[in-house]
Amino acid sequence: MKAVVFHGVGDIRLDDVPEPQIEEPTDAIVRLTASAICGTDLHFVRGTMSGMRPGTILGHEGVGVVEDVGDDVRNLYPGDRVVIPSTLGCGNCSYCRAGYQAQCDTLVPGGTAFFGGPEASGPFDGLQAEAARIPYAAVNLVKLPDEVSDDQALLISDIFPTGYFGADIAEITHGDTVVVFGCGPVGIFSILSAQLLGAVRVFAVDRLADRLDMARRLGAEVIDFSAEDPIDALSRLTGGTGPDRAIDAVGVDAQRPQEGPAVGRSETSDAELDREVDAVAPEQNPQGDSWHPGDGPSMALRWAVRSLAKAGTLSIIGVYPPEAQSFPIGEAMQKNLTIKMGNCNHRRYVPQLVELVRNGSVDPVSVLTELQPVSSAIEAYEAFDQRQPGWMKVELEPASTDP
Ligand SMILES: NC(=O)c1ccc[n+]([C@@H]2O[C@H](COP(=O)([O-])OP(=O)(O)OC[C@H]3O[C@@H](n4cnc5c(N)ncnc54)[C@H](O)[C@@H]3O)[C@@H](O)[C@H]2O)c1
Ligand SMILES: [Zn+2]
Ligand SMILES: [Zn+2]
Repeated sequence: MKAVVFHGVGDIRLDDVPEPQIEEPTDAIVRLTASAICGTDLHFVRGTMSGMRPGTILGHEGVGVVEDVGDDVRNLYPGDRVVIPSTLGCGNCSYCRAGYQAQCDTLVPGGTAFFGGPEASGPFDGLQAEAARIPYAAVNLVKLPDEVSDDQALLISDIFPTGYFGADIAEITHGDTVVVFGCGPVGIFSILSAQLLGAVRVFAVDRLADRLDMARRLGAEVIDFSAEDPIDALSRLTGGTGPDRAIDAVGVDAQRPQEGPAVGRSETSDAELDREVDAVAPEQNPQGDSWHPGDGPSMALRWAVRSLAKAGTLSIIGVYPPEAQSFPIGEAMQKNLTIKMGNCNHRRYVPQLVELVRNGSVDPVSVLTELQPVSSAIEAYEAFDQRQPGWMKVELEPASTDP
C-alpha cells in the first residue's frame, strides 16, 4: 500500500509499504477513508521535534472502516465506520481510567503514545496510509453515526478535541475574556471551544490574513502581530486588564514579528530567540522555502504571560519538545498565573464532540480547505509548511491512489 514515510529531517516520501496485520488479539485493522496533515507533522519534518525513527509512517488523524478485529475486540464489527483518536491508551491503567489517556502507563510509560510520532511515542505507524493497525482497538476507535460525514469526523480525530482540551484546561467559565495565540486549525477549534464553554470575548492573534479572517468569521476579535504589538492591543481592547485566559495554539515553531511595532521589544529579543532555535532544532534541513523551523520558539508563551490579567490561566496545547527550556517563569509567578498544558486526552472528548456534530450544534468542516489525493501528499506537505494562502487544513484521500 502507499503511505507517507519519514526518512529524515526535511525528507519525507510516498513509499510502497506492507499492509498492516493483526499482531495482538486487542488489535484491529482499519482501512482509511480520510486522513490529514497536522501542524505536529511539520515539527518532525522541520526538526523541531526530534527523535523520529526513519521508516515510520506519518499521520495521526484518520477516519475509516474496520476491516478486521482480533479476538479480544468485542465492541466492533468489520464494516463499522470509525474515527481514530490521535493518542493511544490501553483503557486499563489508572491514568486511562482517570481520563488521562495521553499519559497511559502501559503503552509508553514515560510519555504520550500516538500514531506516526517519534521513537519516544511508541513508535506506532501512522494514518497517512491506506490502512493502519490500531492497538487496544476496543478503546482507541470510536464508532460513527451515519449522520456524521468523514470530513466532519476527520476533524474530531485530533484538532477539535485538542482545541476543546485547550479551552477546558484554560478553566473557561461564562463571561470570560480569552485570547488564543495561533489561528491554525488547532487555534480555530480553540476559539470555537472557548465560545462553547461560555467565553464572551475571544481575541485571536496571528499574522496570516486568511487565518485571521476565519477567526473573525467565527466571532473572534483579531490582532495581526505584524501590524500591532499584541500586548499593547490586548491591554487597550480589554480596558487595561488583559484577558482572563490565554491558549497557546502555536507551539515550538512560533515566529517572531518581522515588521510592525512588536519588533525590537524586550520580549522579542533576537539574541535570546536565536539561542532557543539552536536548542530545540539541533538538526535542520531547510530546502528553499520548505522546512524552516520557527524563529521564535517561546514567542507565543512570552506574549501570553505578559498579556494575561493577574491571576489568569495559561493553557498550552501548542507542542514543545523536551529540549525547549525557555519560559518566563518569574513573570508568571509574580502575576499568580495558573498554567496547565499537555497532549490532548483525545479519547476523553471524542464521543461528546461526535454528538455535538451529529445534533448540528457544531459543523466543523469549514476548517477543511484542501482535499488532496495521497499521491500528492508531499506537495501538500510543502504547501501547508509554507502556510500558502488557503492551505488551512489538508485532507488526504487514501482511496484516490487507486488507478
Ligand atoms: N497538545 C496536543 O495534543 C496537540 C494536538 C494537535 C496539535 N498540537 C499542536 O498545536 C499547534 C498548532 O497546530 P496547527 O495544526 O494549528 O499548526 P499550524 O502550524 O497550522 O498553525 C500555527 C499558527 O500559529 C501562527 N503563529 C506563528 N507564530 C505565532 C506567534 N508568535 N503568535 C501567534 N501566532 C503565531 C502561524 O501563523 C499559524 O497560523 C502545533 O504546535 C501542534 O503541534 C497539539
Ligand atoms: Zn494533529
Ligand atoms: Zn493506559
